[in-house]
Amino acid sequence: MPSAMSSPAAPNEPVPPDPSDAPSKASSSKASSETSGQRVPDPAPLVRVENLKKRFAHHGQSVEVLRGVSLEIARGEMVCVVGPSGAGKSTLLHLLGTLDLPSGGVIRYEGIDVTALPPRKLASFRNEKLGFVFQFHHLLPDFDAVENVMMPGMIRGSGRAKLRRRASELLEEVGLAHRLSHRPGELSGGEQQRVALARALVLDPSLILADEPTGNLDSATSEAIHKLMFALNESRGTTFLVVTHSRDLAARMPRVVSMRDGRVEQDERRPAEPMEPSRLESSPAQTSTEEPSAAAS
Ligand SMILES: Nc1ncnc2c1ncn2[C@@H]1O[C@H](COP(=O)(O)OP(=O)(O)O)[C@@H](O)[C@H]1O
Ligand SMILES: [Mg+2]
Repeated sequence: MPSAMSSPAAPNEPVPPDPSDAPSKASSSKASSETSGQRVPDPAPLVRVENLKKRFAHHGQSVEVLRGVSLEIARGEMVCVVGPSGAGKSTLLHLLGTLDLPSGGVIRYEGIDVTALPPRKLASFRNEKLGFVFQFHHLLPDFDAVENVMMPGMIRGSGRAKLRRRASELLEEVGLAHRLSHRPGELSGGEQQRVALARALVLDPSLILADEPTGNLDSATSEAIHKLMFALNESRGTTFLVVTHSRDLAARMPRVVSMRDGRVEQDERRPAEPMEPSRLESSPAQTSTEEPSAAAS
């Protein structure tokens, strides 16, 4: 949130809105949450989506792809989004990622309507508060693993030496201590996704948005990445919203949002049957049987 743009917040820690940036509604809610000098925890969920709509123009016709999606995501939640192809899952993720604007409705992060932020603030918000993982990793081929992980920090202008240390630590955390200087083409598909996860985490985002992060991986490698996401959620408190076609993953998520025809058809919370988190100190990459992608692709 705006106040966090100058100093990154610890993961999962509510960030009070900055009254100079926020719409008046947000600042008044801050004021009301402070009584007799005592701070009451901010009741706003991490994300609140209200009646979100998205229309695209296609061959001169307007196609309504999201038809009023409402959703709340609490800090630290693990949420997956499932549904048939064309249901609007990626569109929802793009809007939540502030990569595109809705045609209607509101997206609030920690109480602040991000659809109303001016472009420069929106870019900082996206850079610092959100992490993205896509089906195809979108790593930069000419940079090694450490440099790829450093990239969001470079965009922000963080100090290089500190950033490099942080990137190396994160790569160790995702089990790639032995691949720091490899370029994407010298890594397997699973390793590439681990680098993408480390990159998504480098600025300690509140929320990771992942669109079919294992859609391109074999089942053993997918399983290792799924475990890693649970382990990162557990150890860092990072909130995950993951679009997936993986039944295995959906079966293990504590919350499953099912979409169809641009609407939320079902929003199911259930007792978590979490995967045994992968032990972060061991190298999960070494449990994978896959070949480096340079050979595979
Ligand atoms: N830029 C666009 N222009 C026109 N139609 C689009 C655009 N992006 C997505 N769509 C349409 O929106 C629908 C939902 O797409 P998407 O969100 O990618 O679905 P999902 O990720 O659930 O498969 C699809 O019918 C798709 O063709
Ligand atoms: Mg999609």
